Amino acid sequence: MPHITLQGQRALVTGANSGIGKAVAIALAEAGAKVVVNYVSSEQRANKVVETIKKNGGDAIAIHADVSKEEQVQQMFKQMIDAWGSIDILVANAGVQRDADFIDMTLQQWQFVMDVNLTGQFLCCREAAREFVRRGVDPKLSCSAGKIICMSSVHEVIPWAGHVNYATSKGGVNMMMQSIAQEMAGKKIRVNSISPGAISTPINTSAWNTPEAESELLKLIPYQRVGKPQDIARAAVWLASDDSDYVTGTSMFVDGGMTLYPGFREGG
Ligand code: NAI
Ligand code: BGC
Repeated sequence: MPHITLQGQRALVTGANSGIGKAVAIALAEAGAKVVVNYVSSEQRANKVVETIKKNGGDAIAIHADVSKEEQVQQMFKQMIDAWGSIDILVANAGVQRDADFIDMTLQQWQFVMDVNLTGQFLCCREAAREFVRRGVDPKLSCSAGKIICMSSVHEVIPWAGHVNYATSKGGVNMMMQSIAQEMAGKKIRVNSISPGAISTPINTSAWNTPEAESELLKLIPYQRVGKPQDIARAAVWLASDDSDYVTGTSMFVDGGMTLYPGFREGG
């Protein structure tokens, strides 16, 4: 994407020491943004992402915070703003699965997934929006006052047996994203989601890491390949840039056609 530039902009990516978040952080930096690499565990992996970005000529810092904890999220934003003055781009990416059959699902499994996937995004979106409103548009950087990208999932629309907590959290992310977008558009803040299909990362290793599992998974993907974190990273760079300036309140499905009901290719 050589023509896209995020030069001078400051981005925060949650859960950026693994999988999709890591690819997004690296791609935003390649497009010129300074990036906060948020992590909750493995500082070492976060530092490696920072190193990669710096080796590529970019700028990054690693900041620890559990996105489900209000004080830690506020402290992370404070640290970022103290270091770089403000924030222009938030990618609320951190997410977890705690899978269980519905009748066996514990309240703890339900609550943990809600706390990270939904409350965690709420807390980060709110802190980012507060700073965007405080600062307003800086036309030297972007024609909007700030951009928020929520990492949702195809499971914001595809029901998912055995994953009721996760699918519910992503359905919630969709409505939260649209409601924030509606409320904040007048302040020139854009809010969108990316809804990935199956992307090979540590969250779903067992779904793609054997030939048998991969061939089962491909039955759900018309485009006939499992997604890569970079597929999502490219979409994130575009949504963060002024090239998507008229796009707000949208969920962009990056899923190789998973939401096209491939079971209906025959029959129906
Ligand atoms: P991953 O497991 O590699 O990454 C998740 C990241 O979130 C890790 O860095 C983890 O440490 C971090 N995290 C978890 N709890 C946290 C907390 N309380 N505070 C801060 N960070 C926390 O998995 P992946 O696939 O990269 O997931 C990233 C996002 O993409 C998640 O929101 C997931 O739901 C979403 N997603 C993933 C898909 C896939 O097929 N891999 C498909 C659709 C959505
Ligand atoms: C889940 C993955 C899954 C993908 C497609 C994502 O939201 O985190 O585990 O492979 O959706 O079903």
